[in-house]
Order: sequence, then C-alpha cells, then structure tokens
Amino acid sequence: MLPRICIVTSNEHKFSEIKEVALEYGLEVEMCPGLKLEIQSDDLADIVFKSALIAYMYLNKPIIVEDAGLFIDALNGFPGPYSSYVYRTIGINGILKLMNDASNRRACFRSAVALVINNRVFSATGEVCGEIATKPRGAGGFGFDPIFVPEGDSRTFAEMSIHEKNKYSHRAKAVRKVFELLFK
Ligand code: IMP
Repeated sequence: MLPRICIVTSNEHKFSEIKEVALEYGLEVEMCPGLKLEIQSDDLADIVFKSALIAYMYLNKPIIVEDAGLFIDALNGFPGPYSSYVYRTIGINGILKLMNDASNRRACFRSAVALVINNRVFSATGEVCGEIATKPRGAGGFGFDPIFVPEGDSRTFAEMSIHEKNKYSHRAKAVRKVFELLFK
C-alpha cells in the first residue's frame, strides 16, 4: 500500500479538489500547510518542480506541490504566473475593469503539479479554457472561480460543486496525469 501523500498548501479548496481526485485512485492525502515556497519564475512547471524538491527535503515524506494561474488572451496572458499577487491586489473587480472593453473574453487556467515519492519525481500540467464572465457569479470555490466559465458549460466554477469543477479543471487534469504516471 502507498503511504499517505502530503499536499503542500494552505488553500483548503485546492486540498479538497486534489483529495477528490486522489480518492479516485485509492490514495490517502493530508494537508500540509505552513510551508511557504514561492520560487520566482514565469514558468509554472519550473516553479512546482523546484518547490517540490525543497518541500521534499524539509518534510521527508511523499508530497504534492501544485501551482496555477489564469491566462487571459485579451491581456496577453496576464496575470499568468502572477495570479496570486494580482488576486490579492486588484482582485476580481480589477480584472473585470481591465476587461471592460474586451470583446475577446477567452482565458485559460493552467496548473502544474509535481509529486515526489520514494526519491522519484512525477510532474504534469493541465489546462482548461473558457471565458471571463462579465460579472461574478456563484458562492463556491476560490480565487477567480466566480468569473471563469469553462468551455462546454454555462456556469462559472463558483456555481459548481467540487465534483463538477473537477470534470473540467486544470488542477484535476494535472493531478490525474501525475497519478497515471505513478501507477504506470
Ligand atoms: P496558486 O499560486 O496556485 O495558489 O494560484 C494563484 C492564484 O490563481 C490563486 O490565488 C487564485 O486566485 C488563482 N487560481 C488558481 N487556481 C484557481 C482555481 O482553480 N480557481 C480560481 N482561481 C484560481
């Protein structure tokens, strides 16, 4: 049996989303908050790979590190890897203001995930594209969920359950790929 995997995050929403996917694979996970590892890079995969190695060195047990960002076409990919800072500063309303005159509302969430277990690293990325809504809708989720409508649905992520969001989400796709590599 595989040992419990530590999800290195303080974000309960992220943890719940990853936990649901882990259960599909019969894996047990726990939340490991407190480690604040923010490697500066424009590349999400680079950020998680380096963060995961550092987290593994500190915790010395199986870990998953995930990093995500929202890439908006009309803003040339902004906020991308700076999504966390942009969310904390101008927030959803700031993004909606920047998008005021934009007729192209296409955007994609991207996620990079690294799993380190028994001194081996498994990493993958996931993406979901859709549109930025004209105003926030829904009370669920976190971050930019209230303004993101994935292709194939008319609801924002914030109007979905975790299970529904996981059918589309960048994070669920990346985590599933990593578990597929683990069990290959
Ligand atoms: P992080 O660095 O992976 O925590 O993500 C950066 C920022 O992107 C977060 O603070 C959120 O605002 C946003 N973000 C990442 N993933 C999601 C998501 O699944 N839904 C909504 N916002 C997200």
